[in-house]
Amino acid sequence: MNHAIKVKDDIYWVGVNDRKTDLFESLWPLPRGVAYNAYLINDEKVALIDTVKAPFEMDYLQNIQKVIGPDRRVDYLIINHMEPDHSGAIQFLTRIFPDITIVGNKKTMEFLKDFYGVIHNTLIIEDGQSLSLGSRTLQFHITPMVHWPETMMTYEGKSGMLFSGDAFGGFGTLDGGVFDDELDMDYFEDEMLRYFSNIVGKYSMMVLKAIDKVKHLDIQVIGATHGPILRKNPGIIIERYAKWSRQETEKGVVIVFGSMYGNTEKMAERIARSLAVQGVEKVIIHDISRTHISYIIRDLWRYRGIILGSCTYNMKLFPPMEQLIGILENDAMKNHVLGIFGGYSWSGGGVKRLKEFAVNAKWETLEPVIEAKCSPSESDLEQCDHLGEEIAKAL
Ligand code: FEO
Repeated sequence: MNHAIKVKDDIYWVGVNDRKTDLFESLWPLPRGVAYNAYLINDEKVALIDTVKAPFEMDYLQNIQKVIGPDRRVDYLIINHMEPDHSGAIQFLTRIFPDITIVGNKKTMEFLKDFYGVIHNTLIIEDGQSLSLGSRTLQFHITPMVHWPETMMTYEGKSGMLFSGDAFGGFGTLDGGVFDDELDMDYFEDEMLRYFSNIVGKYSMMVLKAIDKVKHLDIQVIGATHGPILRKNPGIIIERYAKWSRQETEKGVVIVFGSMYGNTEKMAERIARSLAVQGVEKVIIHDISRTHISYIIRDLWRYRGIILGSCTYNMKLFPPMEQLIGILENDAMKNHVLGIFGGYSWSGGGVKRLKEFAVNAKWETLEPVIEAKCSPSESDLEQCDHLGEEIAKAL
């Protein structure tokens, strides 16, 4: 999209859509792309807030010049976040606007030097400091570890607009609409949670501190660096984000299985049926070999019940399941109840490893833990019914 879109008087979206990158951070699938949102404030001084990923720098410049024309200079670049999907056009900007002043905190400047070798024309701001652009004033709130050490948010009081960096952002390009009241927010809320749970969630405590820091502001609009601009009811999104950060889970169960020949899958199906019979409406089964882990993590973050099932592979856990539990340990997820099942095959190892994981992660594991020898017997399947009943009771 080659547009500059007015957000509020004198404030414009000058970001870009990326439909070419398949994997965000070379990890996370982008089936519907991603937007790199950047903003321009056209006051007595012209300020940009964040840039875009490097290959899109010309589109970004065109958007800027649609607002200020080809001759006017940009005075300030505010950097809320230095990850290269937002800082990639900094060197380009310094060539186009050699007098631009780059504004960030102390940590920002370290990254600015280490990523791009930029050390001149910088302005280091402190937490709470303000910068006047003429009729408007920017106020900086340093909110570290959402999800990098230098992250901060910038607030403009006249418009009530909070430029929040990655917080409140999500995957997905902005297809025609850029505002939450112009877009399918059911889709974007799912993608916000996928972004949050895979990228930011590990730093939930810091997200809560960040929210605490800005919640007293009169926030009318949130401009994150990805996803829709939130103007319809930004308070609801802030509360939802806080809920995710507090790891408040919803009633529902995610069953994740790894199965080479369908035996562990049969057990997953039986447990799911039992849950449904018990009245659990939200039951999701993921085949770990076929669903990208980012979608699984999203659903695990959302729902209280987690049931992991794995075959044994080479006397160990099925490899993709090993990757999943590694992420769960690293993310320190809370407020879940766990069920475990799987296949022994000719050596055992899969269920044993899942039990070890549960102990290490200090998760409450509900009985019975089911380990079928090869294909599940009728007695194993009856145990699956019991596990479904116990999980349903614990939700
Ligand atoms: Fe969107 Fe942390 O970069």
